[in-house]
Amino acid sequence: MPDRSFPETDQEGERLMRLAIMGLGNMGRALAERLLGQGHELLVWNRTRSRTAELAERGAVVLDSPDGLGAGVEAVLVCLADDASVADVVLPDGNGRTAWTDAVVVNTATVSAETTARLAASYGDRFVAAPIVGAPQAVRTGAARFITGGPASACQALAPVWTCLTERIEAGADPVRAVVMKLLNNQMLLAGLAVVAETVRIGRAAGIDDTVLSSMLRDSAQMPPGLQNRRDGLFDPEHSGWFTSPLAAKDLSLALELATGTGTMPLTEAARAAYQRVAEDGWGEVDVTALTEYGRQPPGPSTRR
Ligand SMILES: NC(=O)c1ccc[n+]([C@@H]2O[C@H](COP(=O)([O-])OP(=O)(O)OC[C@H]3O[C@@H](n4cnc5c(N)ncnc54)[C@H](OP(=O)(O)O)[C@@H]3O)[C@@H](O)[C@H]2O)c1
Repeated sequence: MPDRSFPETDQEGERLMRLAIMGLGNMGRALAERLLGQGHELLVWNRTRSRTAELAERGAVVLDSPDGLGAGVEAVLVCLADDASVADVVLPDGNGRTAWTDAVVVNTATVSAETTARLAASYGDRFVAAPIVGAPQAVRTGAARFITGGPASACQALAPVWTCLTERIEAGADPVRAVVMKLLNNQMLLAGLAVVAETVRIGRAAGIDDTVLSSMLRDSAQMPPGLQNRRDGLFDPEHSGWFTSPLAAKDLSLALELATGTGTMPLTEAARAAYQRVAEDGWGEVDVTALTEYGRQPPGPSTRR
């Protein structure tokens, strides 16, 4: 067992772990808040250090560098934006970090199958893919789902993390399978949202006001829960949600990559083009629901997060 002065268990007797999180964006902060709130000891690192201040006040130890873990960290949870940032931080010079040798490495970011295979090759039986299905708010309240793929020994070592973070969908021993399942999930969500955003634009063009449109979507059998979660955002002029269009375009690109060489996927490609367009038009730092603004520029900096 690692040398630690932190309590070994919480009041209910659940084992507490010494964990690190790399990346404190919308999702990384939610993970950190949940794990801290449940009593785990937490070390955090973020490229932009100012984003660590609030967590430091809540008891997290802020690292100067991803190599600064020290002894006794049982797992490193990675929550960076995309393939490039995960490769930079988790595979510097193409190899696993020696400072992380004693920890299980858990990638929660949505990245490609190829990067996931490289992570698995570098960290071996200490690597688990655990992409997240759900919003940061669901993570904070313990209502998100994680699709986990990795060796049974590593997944079992993380049992207190899964207990804290809620439901786990087990994809088996292959981390790549977990990522593929996550990308299929997001392909459905994001292509569906692109359709509903156009439903709103068509309704508006036909003279239906937003209150009526919103009620119609609320009561529609064509709106699954994942899209209902976005309904208010579609009508919010600030689109102050939790998942940006560049991330959506990235996920659709990764999903399309899975089908390379098997023919075009015109609907998914069109949805990706719509997310790319609204991001280029200036809505890239707000929520994906800004798709209802397609073809319009933001009115000013007040719409930016
Ligand atoms: N938000 C959601 O609802 C949601 C849901 C499920 C899955 N996810 C996935 O979770 C991951 C994180 O999403 P998010 O919403 O937290 O994204 P985000 O808010 O955009 O945060 C991105 C994080 O990556 C860091 N980063 C970006 N480029 C970097 C680089 N080159 N080197 C080091 N750090 C870098 C950022 O650091 P800085 O602070 O320095 O910019 C920040 O910590 C993504 O893969 C996303 O697809 C998100």
